[in-house]
Amino acid sequence: MNSVFPDSARTGAELSVDAATSQPGWRAAALAALYEADPLAKSGAVSALYALAQGGAARGDTHWHAEQTLSAPGDLPGRPARPDLVEPRSLQRRSMSTPQGRVVLLHALAHIEFNAINLALDAVWRFPDMPADFYADWLKVAAEEAYHFSLLVKRLADYGHAYGDFPAHNGLWEMCERTSGDVLARMALVPRVLEARGLDASPPIRARLKQAGDDESAAILDIILHDEVGHVRIGNHWFRHLCAQRGLDPHAAWLELAAQYHAPKMRGPFNFEARRSAGFDDAELETLKAQGGDGDAEK
Ligand SMILES: [Fe+2]
Ligand SMILES: [Fe+2]
Repeated sequence: MNSVFPDSARTGAELSVDAATSQPGWRAAALAALYEADPLAKSGAVSALYALAQGGAARGDTHWHAEQTLSAPGDLPGRPARPDLVEPRSLQRRSMSTPQGRVVLLHALAHIEFNAINLALDAVWRFPDMPADFYADWLKVAAEEAYHFSLLVKRLADYGHAYGDFPAHNGLWEMCERTSGDVLARMALVPRVLEARGLDASPPIRARLKQAGDDESAAILDIILHDEVGHVRIGNHWFRHLCAQRGLDPHAAWLELAAQYHAPKMRGPFNFEARRSAGFDDAELETLKAQGGDGDAEK
C-alpha cells in the first residue's frame, strides 16, 4: 500500500507507519486515497482499504491510529484535470426530456459522488481521537460513494460520455474546507445539510427520469437514495455523540453552528420520510416544516 502515497503525502504517511506491519495506518491510507487524482485509482484504493479494514475488524486487528494527528501538505483533494470547476451559476440546466439534458444531469450527479468520496475520506484521516467506529463508518461511506460514482460513470458511458466532459462546481469541497477545524461542525454541516439535501433532491429527479423513460438511470437513483439515508444517519449519530461528549444540546448547537459556518438555507420540499429514517428527530422535522417545507418531496 506504500505505493499509493504521492510525494506530497509523505509526511502524513510516514507519521502513521505501523511498527508491527511496516504498513501505513488506515487513516494515512485514506489520506493517500484522497490525494489520488485518477477517479478509477481513487475508487480502487478506497475499495482495497475498505476490504482491508473490514477483514482487520473481523479479526479484532485494527490500525486506525486514532491518536495520531496527520498532516496533509499540498493541495487536497486529488482530482482529474477535468471537469473544469466554475461558478455554480454559470452551469447549464437542461430539460431531462432530452438525452443531452439527462447526460448533463448524470454528469452533475457523478461529480457530486466524486466529491462525496473525498468528503468521506477527509472525515477518516483528518480528525484524531475519535472511536474506531467513526473511522469505520466514514470509510464505508467512502466505499459506497465510490460505488455510486461507478454506476453513474457507467451510465454516462451508455450515453457516449465520460466524467470530465462538462464543467462542474466546487461547493461541496468548499464546505469540507470550511469545517476542517472541528469535527462537530463537519458532522453538523456536511452529512446533515449537504448529504441530507440529496435525500430531498432525489425523488423529483427520479420522477423526471422515469417520465422521460430512462428507467436505468432512475434505478441508479434508487440505489443512491437508499445508501444516502445511511450516510445521513451516520452523520446524525456522530453529531449527537459529539454533542453529548461536549455537554451540548444538539438543537441549540446546530443553530449556532449553522450561523457560524453559514450553512446554506434549507429549502423544501423536503423528503420527510427519508429524513426520519436517517435519524432526524421530531423537533428537527418540525423546524423544517416551519421553514416552508410543508409538502413532501414529490414521490
Ligand atoms: Fe453517494
Ligand atoms: Fe453520501
